[in-house]
Amino acid sequence: MTLPARCDYARVRSARPSTLAPVTVLERSGAVGEVLISGDQLQQRVSELAAEITHDYRDRDLFMMGVLKGAIFFVADLMRGIELECELDFMAVSSYGSLTDSSGVVRILKDLDAPIEGKDVLIVEDVVDSGLTLGYLLRSLRSRNPRSLEVCALLVKPQRRKIDLPIRYVGFEIPDRFVVGYGLDLDQRYRNLPYVAAANGDQGRFRSGG
Ligand code: IMP
Ligand code: MG
Repeated sequence: MTLPARCDYARVRSARPSTLAPVTVLERSGAVGEVLISGDQLQQRVSELAAEITHDYRDRDLFMMGVLKGAIFFVADLMRGIELECELDFMAVSSYGSLTDSSGVVRILKDLDAPIEGKDVLIVEDVVDSGLTLGYLLRSLRSRNPRSLEVCALLVKPQRRKIDLPIRYVGFEIPDRFVVGYGLDLDQRYRNLPYVAAANGDQGRFRSGG
């Protein structure tokens, strides 16, 4: 019996430095610009965060809460690097009031399946932009009486922040650019790029689907 060819993810992830010409159908669409964080850099940083969280939560009851949809790959990779017993659930929220900016009025599209009272909850977010979505999530989850509540964000955009928030774990600080890939979308597309790239064009018109 012949086994199917296995995809070499390590090679796929480390490919595509910004100097390479776009080769995939996704990249040829023209919407994907400069690579800001390569697949290798993502994997390296995610491993470091997983090690830090493993250390910090060694005597705790870790409950990871991924924010759909953008955090799916991040939370999946992060959780596999954590060497502790832990739970996983998801919330989905609609964050943008207008095409370009969070209004701070956030709607819960999918809530947690069970109470979190007494648990050590870690919110896992893809990117903190204005911070309004995360601010809402923190308020909502705090009211459910977890034992502790912390945030792990893959990306933060310090120049865009409107409110001060306690973010315990940060993957990368990025400039004020609209980014796609590794879960992050532009109009629901490009989440499947194995790296983080700037979107080309007028970033003010762009819209993310969470
Ligand atoms: P905030 O409320 O302004 O912090 O917006 C947070 C949400 O908007 C994130 O969880 C993302 O879903 C989305 N978002 C913000 N910036 C980007 C980006 O550069 N690319 C894709 N989605 C983004
Ligand atoms: Mg998000």
